[in-house]
Amino acid sequence: METVLITGATGTIGGQLIPLLIQNGYAIRILTRNKTKGAINTAIYEWDIEKNYIEEGALEGVDHIIHLAGSSVSERWTSKRKQQILDSRIKAANLLFQHSNHPLKTFISASGISYYGTKTVDKIFKEEDIIKFNQSDFLAYVTHNWEKAADQFASKADRVIKVRTPVVMSKTGGALERIAKPIKMYVGSPLGTGKQWIPWVHIDDLCKAYLTAIQHHNLSGAINVSAPEHITNKSLTKAIAKKLKRPILLPKVPGFILRLLFGKMAAIVLKGSRVDGSKITQFDFDYKYKTISSALDDLL
Ligand SMILES: NC(=O)c1ccc[n+]([C@@H]2O[C@H](COP(=O)([O-])OP(=O)(O)OC[C@H]3O[C@@H](n4cnc5c(N)ncnc54)[C@H](OP(=O)(O)O)[C@@H]3O)[C@@H](O)[C@H]2O)c1
Repeated sequence: METVLITGATGTIGGQLIPLLIQNGYAIRILTRNKTKGAINTAIYEWDIEKNYIEEGALEGVDHIIHLAGSSVSERWTSKRKQQILDSRIKAANLLFQHSNHPLKTFISASGISYYGTKTVDKIFKEEDIIKFNQSDFLAYVTHNWEKAADQFASKADRVIKVRTPVVMSKTGGALERIAKPIKMYVGSPLGTGKQWIPWVHIDDLCKAYLTAIQHHNLSGAINVSAPEHITNKSLTKAIAKKLKRPILLPKVPGFILRLLFGKMAAIVLKGSRVDGSKITQFDFDYKYKTISSALDDLL
């Protein structure tokens, strides 16, 4: 039985990935800041990134590491918060690297589609595109450095995979809950111009992609895991309203209001470009939820 160590396993994605990996015959260890959180049928180890601490034995005999840990990016970006966002991903990966002293089969890191830059352009981005990001684009800076930290593992693991993740649609704990809430309360409306693209994926497809990444020995490097249907902020708002049988009564929320309320973090919802999620389909992977309507049928 192969062992998978997962960081950030107690979050939204980990919560659904763990049972899928267990069903597929993997033994799971989780690395958490707080052992009392736990997860059923897993071995639990503690770490403290600030103190450079990983509990003894956590990495012993591990075949695969999945690095999901990351402090939320959807809270106002104070300088303290920005440091947490960076450290929980990059310093954490460096700490894993220092402590892993035997060969691994795979090192898989979460990454974000903000790798391509927080902007709205016509281009549909692919994994091999060379990206020069604007230095003031904080999320692009985070993802580039996060992937660089993952790439160190090329010297210790047979394969390094970076899962460039868009907005994950899930029943609870994710963006959909936050977007649907005002619509349910009859105060939903598109944000900014509403024309910004929102790459997205259903959580089941994302978890299946992590399983594919572990199982498929020819898969390596960056992969976009993003559903084939491209939607804008406006079309998503309308699709949710239709599913919830609510009208959209209010005008669009102007971008400057969001920037006043949330500072630079507002860029997350005001900007967005399309990504091509087809690379992974070359590895016996098919998106179950190809359209936003099918995903919302399942989730709402
Ligand atoms: N969900 C999305 O829409 C989405 C989109 C793009 C990328 N991603 C990336 O995918 C990864 C997993 O996403 P998720 O939605 O499952 O995230 P989540 O629900 O916010 O959970 C992330 C986990 O990271 C750990 N964590 C949080 N703050 C930390 C800190 N300051 N230091 C160390 N660990 C910390 C926590 O685990 P413990 O409390 O157990 O330590 C937490 O359960 C994240 O890196 C995220 O950026 C997610």
